[in-house]
Amino acid sequence: MHSIEDTAAFSRQIQRMFTAIAPRYDFLNRLLSVGQDRSWRKRAINRLALEPGERILDIATGTGDMALEIASRNLSVQISGIDFSRRMLDLGREKIKENGYDHDVSFQIGSAECLPFADDSFHGAVCAFGIRNFADVKLGLREFHRILKPGGRAVILEFSKPTNRVLKSVYNWYFDLVLPKVGSLISGHNDAYSYLPESVADFPDQAEFVSWIKDAGFQKVSFKELTFGIVSIHYGYKGI
Ligand SMILES: C[S@@+](CC[C@H](N)C(=O)[O-])C[C@H]1O[C@@H](n2cnc3c(N)ncnc32)[C@H](O)[C@@H]1O
Repeated sequence: MHSIEDTAAFSRQIQRMFTAIAPRYDFLNRLLSVGQDRSWRKRAINRLALEPGERILDIATGTGDMALEIASRNLSVQISGIDFSRRMLDLGREKIKENGYDHDVSFQIGSAECLPFADDSFHGAVCAFGIRNFADVKLGLREFHRILKPGGRAVILEFSKPTNRVLKSVYNWYFDLVLPKVGSLISGHNDAYSYLPESVADFPDQAEFVSWIKDAGFQKVSFKELTFGIVSIHYGYKGI
């Protein structure tokens, strides 16, 4: 992304895409990940090491699955979720209400690269499968750091690329051929599930992404691969 116009146009395109696929988003997540997405989110929340009464921000919350997972731990944690797709948030609100967590979770519309929160506001920030879609990932990371209190933690769950040679070819076949076809058929959107493997391919590998997280000001930065490196959990700590 080079100019402000390019950045804004890219964000609008992503926002439109998620708004279009929103009604089928959860179903496709479960189907295309063979149910793994839930356990990936659980493990990301475990990494956050929640403490009772904390204030947590779920960035690019979408239909709120990370927020829901946090709320289900019953730790009296106050959760805010932010996303720039109103339709995704509306679906998230319904789910939160159905599960009886509407007193613990609140959603608002907004951009991850310009978070509408004061400096040092949250004990933790999470972002699952969101950051890869930001028009300016480095700016997003600086925002994550800014809104965290000193001692706050950020946990980022994102697709990565498996390194094992055998697994890589199966993964490429599935990700590049099967997933776009099934995704397009079920979501009714031609490009969204071709964009997914493309955006994963364009995203930095774990080592480079770790350096971006450090550059944003985080300390104790680490990552852990799950399911042979198909996804990774990245961690950063805001120094006191
Ligand atoms: C793949 S979904 C992930 C949703 C959810 N976190 C989950 O785990 O299922 C990506 C979400 O990021 C949102 N998003 C992408 N870029 C964003 C940005 N720059 N600001 C706010 N939301 C963004 C999209 O609207 C979409 O809801």
